[in-house]
Amino acid sequence: MNFVMKPHQKAYPQEFLEDVLTGLSASRRYISPRWLYDKIGSEFFEAITDLPEYYVTRTEMKILRQVAPEFAEIIGPNASLVEYGAGAATKARVFLNAFSKPSEYVAIDISFDHLEQSLKQLAEDFPNLKVRPIAGDFLSETISTDLGGDTQKVGFFPGSTIGNLSNDEIATFLQNARNSLGDGSYFILGADLRKSPEILIPAYDDNQKVTAGFNMNLLARINRELGGTIELSKFRHKVVWNDNLSQIEMHLESLENQSFQIAGSTFSIGQGETIHTENSRKFRHEELKDLIGNNGWEITRYETGKNGYFAVMLLRAK
Ligand SMILES: C[S@@+](CC[C@H](N)C(=O)[O-])C[C@H]1O[C@@H](n2cnc3c(N)ncnc32)[C@H](O)[C@@H]1O
Repeated sequence: MNFVMKPHQKAYPQEFLEDVLTGLSASRRYISPRWLYDKIGSEFFEAITDLPEYYVTRTEMKILRQVAPEFAEIIGPNASLVEYGAGAATKARVFLNAFSKPSEYVAIDISFDHLEQSLKQLAEDFPNLKVRPIAGDFLSETISTDLGGDTQKVGFFPGSTIGNLSNDEIATFLQNARNSLGDGSYFILGADLRKSPEILIPAYDDNQKVTAGFNMNLLARINRELGGTIELSKFRHKVVWNDNLSQIEMHLESLENQSFQIAGSTFSIGQGETIHTENSRKFRHEELKDLIGNNGWEITRYETGKNGYFAVMLLRAK
């Protein structure tokens, strides 16, 4: 395997520390969702994808399998698939199998231990494919500028990871991807759609408490990597449906008035106060059309499957 380790990788603990100190000092405390994914966080996420309540992965997989032959026909041979937030790289396999003579798979992820492990197996299963992991933040402008080669570039952003981003982040991300993938490129995008909170809330607050473990691991990670003194038993996983913003919000709620230390700074947090850790936005079709159309791409296929829960789109560079 040809490993390309970007300098971003080495900077994580300092970047992580700065983000945590800034977010916890804000009047409404928050930590960016990207820090949910260390090796343990990624393993929690894999377990979430198998939960009965988490309709997202199986719904999207079904649509991906259904559209793959048609998308492969449109895209043509010798494609380079570039996945943003690749995780276990399971969904990429659908297209790597459907494409005619795929040339390269570039997988970008912030959780680099997990990425390395996922790609070892994939490289064995696709011996003729060039496999290139890039460890870093997909929001960074420089993360994928150096794709090289004259292959047909295809961006891939499944899992509704786009729903974790703000409108400004989505705009920057889509424009950067458009610039690095180049003229004539395609982009396969998966986005979760608005539906009843009765379906949404359990998907992020499951009976087995796996999602709670995923969220709480952020506090454990602060203790592990930043020398924090947070007592996990004094927090709980909290999930809120914010109808105005059409998003599920994950928080960590303090169960009592308490203080803890991180790298020499002391934080005091009151009972009932929360640290906001993730948004999972649930989009409307019109909103997706605007976000995509205003940022360098046009939607050429839009497939939601029978229940209309989730959209898989094929975009073409404008
Ligand atoms: C919701 S999971 C989706 C994983 C996989 N693509 C799927 O569809 O099942 C988000 C993935 O993006 C990665 N990730 C999250 N924020 C990131 C960032 N800012 N830069 C790079 N990777 C990120 C996480 O490590 C994780 O693997």
